[in-house]
Amino acid sequence: MCGIVGYVGRPDGHGNAGHSALDVVLEGLRRLEYRGYDSAGVAVVADGVISSRKKSGKLSNLLAELEARPLPETVTGIGHTRWATHGGPTDQNAHPHLSDGGKLALIHNGIIENFAELKRELMAKGVTFASETDTEVAAALLGDIFRTKLNGDVSDGGLTRAMQLACQRLEGAFTLLAVHADQPDVVVAARRNSPLVVGLGEGENFLGSDVSGFIDYTRRAVELGQDQIVTITADSVDITDFYGAPAEGKEYHVDWDPASAEKGGFSSFMAKEINDQPDAVGQTLLGRSDINGKLTLDEIRIDPELLKQVNKIIVLACGTAAYAGTVAKYAIENWCRIPTEVELAHEFRYRDPILDANTLVVSISQSGETMDTLMAVRYAREQGAKTISICNTNGSTIPRESDAVLYTHAGPEIAVASTKAFLAQITAAYLLGLYLAQLRGNIFSGQIKDVLADLNKIPAKIQSILDNSGPLRELARSMKDEKSVLFLGRHVGYPVALEGALKLKEIAYIHAEGFAAGELKHGPIALIDEGQPVFVVVPSPRGRDSLHAKVVSNIQEVRARGARTLVIAEEGDEAVKAYAEHVFYVPETPTLLMPLLTTVPLQIFALELASAKGYDVDQPRNLAKSVTVE
Ligand code: F6R
Repeated sequence: MCGIVGYVGRPDGHGNAGHSALDVVLEGLRRLEYRGYDSAGVAVVADGVISSRKKSGKLSNLLAELEARPLPETVTGIGHTRWATHGGPTDQNAHPHLSDGGKLALIHNGIIENFAELKRELMAKGVTFASETDTEVAAALLGDIFRTKLNGDVSDGGLTRAMQLACQRLEGAFTLLAVHADQPDVVVAARRNSPLVVGLGEGENFLGSDVSGFIDYTRRAVELGQDQIVTITADSVDITDFYGAPAEGKEYHVDWDPASAEKGGFSSFMAKEINDQPDAVGQTLLGRSDINGKLTLDEIRIDPELLKQVNKIIVLACGTAAYAGTVAKYAIENWCRIPTEVELAHEFRYRDPILDANTLVVSISQSGETMDTLMAVRYAREQGAKTISICNTNGSTIPRESDAVLYTHAGPEIAVASTKAFLAQITAAYLLGLYLAQLRGNIFSGQIKDVLADLNKIPAKIQSILDNSGPLRELARSMKDEKSVLFLGRHVGYPVALEGALKLKEIAYIHAEGFAAGELKHGPIALIDEGQPVFVVVPSPRGRDSLHAKVVSNIQEVRARGARTLVIAEEGDEAVKAYAEHVFYVPETPTLLMPLLTTVPLQIFALELASAKGYDVDQPRNLAKSVTVE
């Protein structure tokens, strides 16, 4: 949650590369706005003075404010886009927060857990507060240390030293960025459990919550470790721990270009990302097998002998990623015969789970920064389990803290509601399942080759669903005034139903529920009355006979009670026609791989319906792209 940008250029005009701090910071905020859009704010240092502007609501409100009340041109600045935790989304609670008599400005992502205690302490010293945020307490603490402990002396570290001392007092999760009027050519940042990346330029340096904060200016990034402080000037990047001991960051090259994080002619990022899915799946499959068709997952650095001994798999994730995990469970158990549990990461460590060195924990996370998932992975490692992360974001925290990583190559996902990352996560989980099966000799290499061949046909099949989505779009537009939509599925269709419902809730704000079709008669069928729309995800009639027949019976059950049945079925499935008001066909594919196809119509449905309602599908209310607080 919250997007953070910092910039320092050379003070020879507008930075070495001709950049004004404000331009860089605002461009970074535009790209990071997906992380939170409750308010936005900036601060710049010019002529020994801090000037700041902040506004509740989206970045556009801040831009209007800057138009009305411009800030001076300068080469040092910070910017913030907020997802509110402490205190509502007001101007007052927006970042930056000032202290030291207006000479220090600070922005923050995360939660300072001991803010109440620190606030009491500072108030006893006479400090007053203007907002309800924990961030203002961190700003006040930093200002107080700078002024009273260090006497405002900038000769011996100044703001960097003050940040180290402040961080020693802070508990919780935080990325902090600060500027001070007395050190006009410096931005100091700290990170604990929240993301922060450094961008290296020529005569200028950058900070961002992720690389999109500076991708327009440099592809050279530096990954920071836990509990580190970084001080950037135009020509230097210095990293220490919270106690001042020098530390090293890890430099890496950002391999996606800025254009991949643009809408590319689509009306929204979500529309673009749904259309990116053939590529997202294709890229995730690329280069995974050798010339003999043997699966080679080079990133899996865990000793194969240890993987052979795994007797239990636990998949940890949240939201959409957890539904990808549920799909994975069916495939992994089928191929590997290893008992596999899927658990919401935030529930996991509070129930005293049973795991040991023979447990393999597979975390799934698009961002690699979801705090609940990160904490669950840490807990699992502490208990001795082996951890593999399936992740879309290079250099992010969860893969860094896992024993191994299998990257999805979906490219940057900007829309808050996840689409292409979901399909890429499922694809990667299939690869992992096949790899384990290969390693343990559970299935013949010929079978693995066949599944890989089927997987390689998926991108073209997704494309054909996208190309033939006209009738589905039309239906979605006609349903914009619906109050509730239900989704049913069985087997791998069950997580697809859950995902279909989640998409609709998230972006169209319509009551939507996904159910296991078999569970219907145990209660939810009471919800059905005349005209209730029900999507049903039907398994292939070529799969297990009974599975298809059971779902067709479920369609009849809801239809008999007045439901409008909207059916997603495999091409050639004639049996469903008699009971469906609308059928949307997807190309034939083996049952286990069907979620890669059946999800797509449900994404398109949600997108089209929400757009017809006039909603901002990329930035739905109350949400943020990555949830970096517990
Ligand atoms: C839903 C959605 C969320 C995320 C969840 C996990 O559309 O995007 O439910 O899937 O917050 O996020 P990651 O995958 O970044 O860990």
